[in-house]
Amino acid sequence: MIKNGNENRNNGNGIGNQNGNGNGNGCAFETLEKDTIEIAVLSSKTKAAIDQWLTKFPENQRQSGVLFALKLVQDENKGFLTEPLMNAVACYLGMPRIAVYEVASFYSMLELKPVGKHKISVCTNISCMLRGSEEIVSHFQKRLGIGFGETTADGLFTLKEVECLAACGGAPAMLLGTQYYEDLTKEKIDAILSELEPSYGQ
Ligand code: FES
Repeated sequence: MIKNGNENRNNGNGIGNQNGNGNGNGCAFETLEKDTIEIAVLSSKTKAAIDQWLTKFPENQRQSGVLFALKLVQDENKGFLTEPLMNAVACYLGMPRIAVYEVASFYSMLELKPVGKHKISVCTNISCMLRGSEEIVSHFQKRLGIGFGETTADGLFTLKEVECLAACGGAPAMLLGTQYYEDLTKEKIDAILSELEPSYGQ
């Protein structure tokens, strides 16, 4: 798999040279052996899935797979990204590291620190706000005992505030991991929490 990254390095993929580590491909080193070590933090299953995804794009556009790659890597790392993992993605895709960090810090689905077993992302954008997201948020905060951006002390729940989830027709809406829940009410929340972790449901 290193072959692709090195091909990019050799053919000049036009991504630029401002990765902050002296080369333009996101790899920290200039040698095949050391770059292989960096990329080795990606599992072979992840690399195979990234390769499969990249077949959708022109060969010289490997960076188009960055969001997919980061999500895969995150899922395999208990739901959050680390710097070595982001660096490995940059190296594997032949991208400047800074470009990968920008993507990782922009999308709310990507996490840069550990999260709880259950990640709850509540939308507070306009449609959800008009349909009572404030009450939904305060009910979650009461039940979980945490605010936005926090994780319960037992590591079971993380609560996040997110922008529009594209589920405005079912506002107020939230994501539990990747599962959508719509038309939320306090009763629905209690039922969801009871099913996940009974001690939080009442
Ligand atoms: S505003 Fe909440 S899903 Fe669109």
